[in-house]
Amino acid sequence: MALVSMRQLLDEAAGGGYGVGAFNVNNMEQVQALMEAADETRSPVIVQASRGARTYTNDRFLIHLMQAAVEVYPDVPVALHQDHGDSPETCFSAIEQGFTSVMMDGSLLADGKTPSDFDYNVAVTRQVVEHAHAVGVTVEGELGTLGGIEDGHGSGEVHLTDPEQAVDFVRLTGIDALAVAIGTSHGAYKFSKPPTGDVLAMNLIQEIHERLPDTHLVMHGSSSVPKELVDTINAYGGEIRPTWGVPVEEIQLGIRHGVRKINVDTDARLAMTGAVRKALAGDAGEFDPRSYLKPAREAMKAVYVERMTQFGQAGHAGDYEPKTLEEMRQFYAADSGRGRIGTRLELR
Ligand code: G3H
Ligand code: 13P
Ligand code: ZN
Repeated sequence: MALVSMRQLLDEAAGGGYGVGAFNVNNMEQVQALMEAADETRSPVIVQASRGARTYTNDRFLIHLMQAAVEVYPDVPVALHQDHGDSPETCFSAIEQGFTSVMMDGSLLADGKTPSDFDYNVAVTRQVVEHAHAVGVTVEGELGTLGGIEDGHGSGEVHLTDPEQAVDFVRLTGIDALAVAIGTSHGAYKFSKPPTGDVLAMNLIQEIHERLPDTHLVMHGSSSVPKELVDTINAYGGEIRPTWGVPVEEIQLGIRHGVRKINVDTDARLAMTGAVRKALAGDAGEFDPRSYLKPAREAMKAVYVERMTQFGQAGHAGDYEPKTLEEMRQFYAADSGRGRIGTRLELR
């Protein structure tokens, strides 16, 4: 199976009423852990790479890892997605490399820091949609800004998404999926106590979904930052301060109200770091990298299996026949991407 369109994965998820985790990768162990988890749970999956990940892997290593992934696991539908593209050029180069989905994050200017205005966001996102849909590639846009700064990306300020503006944004850009800002942030330090409605505005998801029932909503900054993962790091010399993430039950509430893509990076980073620290502390004389990368891979896989099960994507890998990007191009050309792609096997 080749890499598949993210739009198809999300349309299918909408039809089935479940969410699909989008997990960030930077290296072989993460790709392997993710694919093993998807295969074991029979899950479709979104693999995403930030600009930092693309630089780290020099693009080609990542692309070849993904080719290996689809070769080794032919029954797992996988979309390869550019996370937080900072400019149309970043998205275009991802498409050239073979990504099947891109995020144009026009909520910030190209410096990845300064919040942009609505017109700028519409203009750059529209430009990416025109280019991407012409080759069958999916586009995610973002309205509003998250807190937190990752890899120099992010304004550090939270601007919640305005539901009325969201309607205009989707109409003017033609995006497939909309990332909404509801009070989450990237990284481990999201909330200083268990989040309630005053800091995590789940009601916005509901309001936006009511106005845009056919647009797939995306939750960024969705790591749950499990205490046990933080505790493992700290038990072996780490210094992660007390912190709270997004409770899985809140994500599940979001899924009931139109959230189809859930971005998770930090939880796997925590799992990997804790496992490496533990393994190295366990045998100070060990110096074979496999002795700590293997448990790291296992720890990440456990996180992925748990999230795939909780988001509901587990068991859905074989529901449909993946469309080619050429078929997706025709779909966009025929009706400008409106409606859902009817590919569920029982509907064919
Ligand atoms: O968008 C945030 C993701 O966690 C990616 O982080 O830019 O450090 O790779 P990164
Ligand atoms: P976390 O830092 O919560 O894992 O969020 C990742 C993310 O949103 C990537 O775009
Ligand atoms: Zn994000």
